[in-house]
Amino acid sequence: MQVLFKILRQKPNSAPQFQSYPLEVQPGNTILECLNRIKWEQDGGLAFRKNCRNTICGSCSMRINGRSALACKQNVAQELEMLPQSHQQDLPTITITPLGNLPVIKDLVVDMSRFWDNLEKVDPYVSTQGRKIPEKEFLQTPQERSRLDQTGNCIMCGACYSECNAITVNPEFVGPHALAKAQRMVADSRDTEIETRLDHYSQGTQGVWGCTRCYFCNAVCPMEVAPMDQISRLKQQILDRKDAQSSRAIRHRKVLIDLVKQGGWIDERKFGVFVVGNYFRDLQGLLSIAPLGLRMIASGKFPLSFEASQGTAVVRSLIESVQHDE
Ligand code: FES
Repeated sequence: MQVLFKILRQKPNSAPQFQSYPLEVQPGNTILECLNRIKWEQDGGLAFRKNCRNTICGSCSMRINGRSALACKQNVAQELEMLPQSHQQDLPTITITPLGNLPVIKDLVVDMSRFWDNLEKVDPYVSTQGRKIPEKEFLQTPQERSRLDQTGNCIMCGACYSECNAITVNPEFVGPHALAKAQRMVADSRDTEIETRLDHYSQGTQGVWGCTRCYFCNAVCPMEVAPMDQISRLKQQILDRKDAQSSRAIRHRKVLIDLVKQGGWIDERKFGVFVVGNYFRDLQGLLSIAPLGLRMIASGKFPLSFEASQGTAVVRSLIESVQHDE
């Protein structure tokens, strides 16, 4: 079958532009096989990364039809099937662009420096400090090792980083790849720095609290690492150890749950006062939200009373049963 490959080409210091390459392919051909043929048969200047051709090295990550994926994992039939009806043209077309959130070096090759630098920020090495050097290696039981299975599957392809909405708006955020690795460290029975790590991952919006919970990282991860789920596990461990005074981010989660348990939904009068004003302890915080409160009162949007939801008991029992299962 004939397929048109529309590839975004870019050279340093020039505007990107699409170039089209028609190719005779089999439905089972991988996108990487197609790119290889385009390079070998039509355009030797086309730049893209590849190595293992077998979903192991993570090199061939790129956006295929607008979604970050591994070119050696996706095949032509899968990609054409996923196209919405409105995009189906006479000549089936597959669009390929470089990963997002990273600067382009050439064509589909991106500069991954920031990606690796951010990984380094979570200290991605098992710490055995303070232990006596063992005569043999540090052993783990099969159960202890199994806790690392899912996060251990990460091949650092960058698909999650490319789709991360938090990184797009907050360059401080380390990214889902780094936090999935952080959870892998915390789950490791050999690590001796868990408390320090959780403190570190809880700072500002560079760690877990920077995640916007859009779930795009889970949706695109080719290895089912589910980075968003790993971030949630880190958050839960932090919340289990810290009280509401620790930081505004932690207070935000705790107050929200407490208020919903009390009234079935959020009592907005208390929410700002408790979270930003830290239960009247933070006068500066209270003053900072006073103008907003006054504007809300003036425009009739400040609730003067609070009616508990009729379903409060059901909501409370749902929250308690989730908390019980954690
Ligand atoms: Fe190694 Fe695709 S070439 S993952």
